[in-house]
Amino acid sequence: MLAAPYHLRGDADAAAYVYGRYGNPTWTHLERALGELEEAEAVTFASGMAALTAVVLPLLGRGDVLVACGDGYPGVREIARERLEPLGIEVRLVPTDTEAVAAAAPGARLLWLETPSNPRLDVVDIAAAAEAAHAAGALLAVDNTVATGLGQRPLDLGADLSMLSGTKSLSGHSDLLLGAVLVRDAVLAEGLRRWRGQTGAVPGPFEAWLAHRSLATLGLRAERQSDTGLALARRLRERGDVSDLRHPGLEDDPSHAVARRQMALWGPLLGFALPSAERAQAFLAACALVSEATSFGGVHATAERRGRWGTDDVPEGFIRFSAGCEDTADLVADVEQALDRVA
Ligand SMILES: Cc1ncc(COP(=O)(O)O)c(C=O)c1O
Repeated sequence: MLAAPYHLRGDADAAAYVYGRYGNPTWTHLERALGELEEAEAVTFASGMAALTAVVLPLLGRGDVLVACGDGYPGVREIARERLEPLGIEVRLVPTDTEAVAAAAPGARLLWLETPSNPRLDVVDIAAAAEAAHAAGALLAVDNTVATGLGQRPLDLGADLSMLSGTKSLSGHSDLLLGAVLVRDAVLAEGLRRWRGQTGAVPGPFEAWLAHRSLATLGLRAERQSDTGLALARRLRERGDVSDLRHPGLEDDPSHAVARRQMALWGPLLGFALPSAERAQAFLAACALVSEATSFGGVHATAERRGRWGTDDVPEGFIRFSAGCEDTADLVADVEQALDRVA
């Protein structure tokens, strides 16, 4: 619903829609639907970064400790470096691995995980991280962007906050920016809503409507992307002309055992490397069905040479590949013809 102020006569009613920065009926519908994915309260935001900062900025103050992982969306490390550390918050950056996260927990206020992490697709055991966080008196937040609540339910595994960028797989059409945080604790939910109202990090009503409409196909999209991503990873493993192949669904992937326990769907992503930046760029240019773009989770396959940003610890020729909803055999054939052309 497009409205800035609502009709509001006389004394304000706390339950009514008052002003567009505090509430909107379209958000309400979207938040109810998102909440059902994890049996939680959902609070939506203008973008994934607006959701992420709504968790880390109000929760942490001078002297607090944040534990975050080396792999994952660089935005969290950038906020840590440029916004948190100058405020006197200690940031412990650890390898994206369950033992390292647990070992860093004592003394922390918040543990921040992205699992599967992107671009390297490491998987952290959410239940073990939650146990370590709670033993230390800390909260655990999980960035669930890659899997979405359909593929993985961090709150069921003990996380306190499940955050995601709705820009990616959740809305899935590469046509909007959105973020959400899901919680089961009413105090946390109220804090997130107050932060959103105070900072104005609100989702646009049209974006909320588009996202709500897109949820009807989330299951179809997520299953196809997950199946195609795995089929492609299996084919690449057989070919043997790429290195650093990662996919949580591959039986010999270091992430597989934990991923199998905690994920219902693998998500759309796989990662692999070609021997050089030039060869990786030539491969991307040779794909007919794959657009070179920096997002993922859309209905159309996208890929990028992740090393082009300099923000991730990956080889120069490392490609983050996001399977779309194309016919699986068509997409696998396209990737194979592109690899053959650049061989
Ligand atoms: C895992 C992950 N978390 C958070 C974000 C930030 O989301 P947004 O771009 O919607 O602000 C992104 C991507 O940009 C992401 O990939």
